[in-house]
Amino acid sequence: MAKIFVTGALGFIGSYLVPYLAEQGHEVVSSDVHVRDYDDYVRADVTSFEDLYRIFKKEKIDQVVHMAGEVGRMVGEEHPQKMLYVNNIGTLNLIKLCMEHKARLVYFSTSEVYGRLFDTGATVKEEDLEKGSVFTTTNIYAMSKLFGEAIVRHYVENYGLNAVTIRPFMVYGPGEHASKYRSALINFINAALKGETLTVHRGAERAWCFVSDFIRGLYLVMQTPFSGKYNAFNIGSDEYHSMEEVAEMVINECGGKHSQIKVIEPPTKFLSLAKNFSIAKIKSLGYKPEIPLKEGIHRIAEWQKNENSAKQVQKDDQRTIR
Ligand SMILES: NC(=O)c1ccc[n+]([C@@H]2O[C@H](COP(=O)([O-])OP(=O)(O)OC[C@H]3O[C@@H](n4cnc5c(N)ncnc54)[C@H](O)[C@@H]3O)[C@@H](O)[C@H]2O)c1
Repeated sequence: MAKIFVTGALGFIGSYLVPYLAEQGHEVVSSDVHVRDYDDYVRADVTSFEDLYRIFKKEKIDQVVHMAGEVGRMVGEEHPQKMLYVNNIGTLNLIKLCMEHKARLVYFSTSEVYGRLFDTGATVKEEDLEKGSVFTTTNIYAMSKLFGEAIVRHYVENYGLNAVTIRPFMVYGPGEHASKYRSALINFINAALKGETLTVHRGAERAWCFVSDFIRGLYLVMQTPFSGKYNAFNIGSDEYHSMEEVAEMVINECGGKHSQIKVIEPPTKFLSLAKNFSIAKIKSLGYKPEIPLKEGIHRIAEWQKNENSAKQVQKDDQRTIR
């Protein structure tokens, strides 16, 4: 069994990946920039070569799953320097250490790298990105991740780096906390439970991928042998819904009112209205998404209700202390 170093381990996807890898019998070295009380957790900033160097010096790492970074379209537009720095210098640091220690790198990109290629309405395949460029991306987040892919590819093709890229599509599940920086789906559920408005972009369509399905897909890729060439995998679901349908499903699950749904004209900048993509490549490894959106929404709603009541208890306790 391998020793796997996970960066961004305390994030949404990391918090599912780490226990999953341990269950598969791997030794996991978890790291994140956050300071938190966590078993077997190393605080490391991926922009600090020294932080990472210490981990590689101490542990015999076989594979790195590099998920740490500045995440999301809005974060990138608000903090572009930080995003470009963390997502690119962090990746370069890990590439250097993977080369030095002969470890495999699993680089986390994003569906956003396809940018305007989505606008043709065609179903994008991994190799279609060759037709795009940083000029066809629509936001800083996508630019940072695409540049990261380019650096990884450069080291694969010219220096023999053993690496593979993951392009996740709309991963969702319990544990993602609603905020303007996170997905529309988690924000819909949060708003529905609070009796607030669900703002829907007219004409928007997505396929949402439940986190446990995503993790199984990722693990299939992690087990593939290195082909010696640059290689990327889309991982997502093929259950497409308009965002108006998604809002209806959320309202039905949460017992909200249909009048809570407000459909607005979509922004013309920074995002793609629809994202149609192929998952044939990951399916060829045996991948099969199992959790339908309706079930996924139910699971999140249950989790969110527990979170909300825990927060209420905390508030009440604070009031008592005062
Ligand atoms: N969630 C999705 O649907 C989705 C979609 C596409 C791509 N991705 C990519 O997947 C990866 C994981 O996503 P997530 O949803 O779990 O994000 P997340 O924001 O929940 O987790 C990212 C983690 O990275 C850590 N981090 C940030 N800067 C760091 C630094 N300088 N050094 C070390 N750690 C740092 C954060 O503390 C956080 O715990 C990211 O690279 C993201 O871009 C996610």
